[in-house]
Amino acid sequence: MNSFSFHNPTKICFGEGAVEQLASEVKRYGSNVLLVYGGGSIKRTGLYDRVLQQLNAAEVRVVQLGGIEPNPRLSSVQKGIELCRTEGIDFILAVGGGSVIDAAKAIAVGVPYEGDVWDFLVHKATIRESLPIGTILTLSATGSEMNGSSVISHWEEKQKRGFTSSYMYPRFSILDPTLTFSVPRDQTVNGIVDIMSHVFEQYFSLTKDTPLQERLCESILLTVIENAERALDKPDDYTARANLMWCGTLALNGGLISLGMDNDWSSHGIEHEISAIYDIPHGAGLSIVFPNWMKYVMNERPDRFAQYANRVWGIERNGKTETELALAGIEATRDFFTRIGAPSTLADFGIGTEQLDRMAYEAVRFGSIGSFKKLDQADVRAILQHCL
Ligand code: NZQ
Ligand code: ZN
Repeated sequence: MNSFSFHNPTKICFGEGAVEQLASEVKRYGSNVLLVYGGGSIKRTGLYDRVLQQLNAAEVRVVQLGGIEPNPRLSSVQKGIELCRTEGIDFILAVGGGSVIDAAKAIAVGVPYEGDVWDFLVHKATIRESLPIGTILTLSATGSEMNGSSVISHWEEKQKRGFTSSYMYPRFSILDPTLTFSVPRDQTVNGIVDIMSHVFEQYFSLTKDTPLQERLCESILLTVIENAERALDKPDDYTARANLMWCGTLALNGGLISLGMDNDWSSHGIEHEISAIYDIPHGAGLSIVFPNWMKYVMNERPDRFAQYANRVWGIERNGKTETELALAGIEATRDFFTRIGAPSTLADFGIGTEQLDRMAYEAVRFGSIGSFKKLDQADVRAILQHCL
């Protein structure tokens, strides 16, 4: 196990009715609030009215920024930064999924920075300040509600980049599973794949002697698998939604489950290049990339893949070689994704070979990616080829 330090400052308010805690939380941080939300789902579900009631009760001034896109765009972030400056905003409240939260984080660090916020995403500047943010999560997927990361798309340049800073942890996040009852089937599936993928990025590691971390990862995977079809069959199943929500938060909250382990993150890097150009949902891209990445890298450490097959999918050894067991686990992953309705090929989105070279080039623009197996441009190109 490697040495580590860990600090996660986000307060979590979890459970049905947790939205009622919004007024008292907001009052602690500001009096001029920017309310950030997406394309309108919060208006359709009535959450918007409940949030405004709470903000009213908190006696804060509210300025609104709606219309944040899935795969949030730099242009929306820049608009938010301008709004914060002209309106004297001192607190940002994000109400939505990962895209809304990520946009809010980028706005928060962009306000006190005199240059273009994109500088942070291309490693041209370091974050030194931020406005405080809080979130109300409406979709279980990214973990953005309890981590310091944000992913923003520069649509005109077809670039999608992530950045991480301790300044971007939300001060609080309200997690009410009933707010996810309205998430459509396809977005629920995307979220499930994303949560599992966050665990994969950490679990498939070359670091040795980490039994607790491995079991933490496996327990999240098992819990997601147990609850996924339940939530898909009955979208208002509180237990299933609650379990998925907490799994999503724990799967990516500053690395709690994999402290002391090297992480990989190359599949996320590859997926971001696909959604940068084709604007497909992040989870859908991961469903295509991950099983292909697994096959490409499994020989680096077949024992970890064999353990995964056995402990997560219950595949017995029964005289199988380690390689056979590893492959069976990857097959089980692919089958599960397909069974819940996630895509398996780029062709499912009408994507051909046209941009593969560009995506491979961009994925390694700042150097090779991954740690389980370091991937260069040719490796990424080969994995993308398998995704066709
Ligand atoms: O925009 P609205 O109208 O709110 O609709 C959204 C959106 O269309 C809808 N939705 C959300 N909650 C809903 C709902 N519809 C009905 N009822 C609800 N309760 O779902 C759609 C997708 O929302 P989005 O926020 O885009 O999804 P997700 O949470 O999966 O976020 C994806 C983004 O997060 C990034 C991804 O790359 C992508 O840009 N990621 C962020 C990470 C992080 N910050 O740590 C890590 C991830 O790996 C990921 O890269
Ligand atoms: Zn992800």
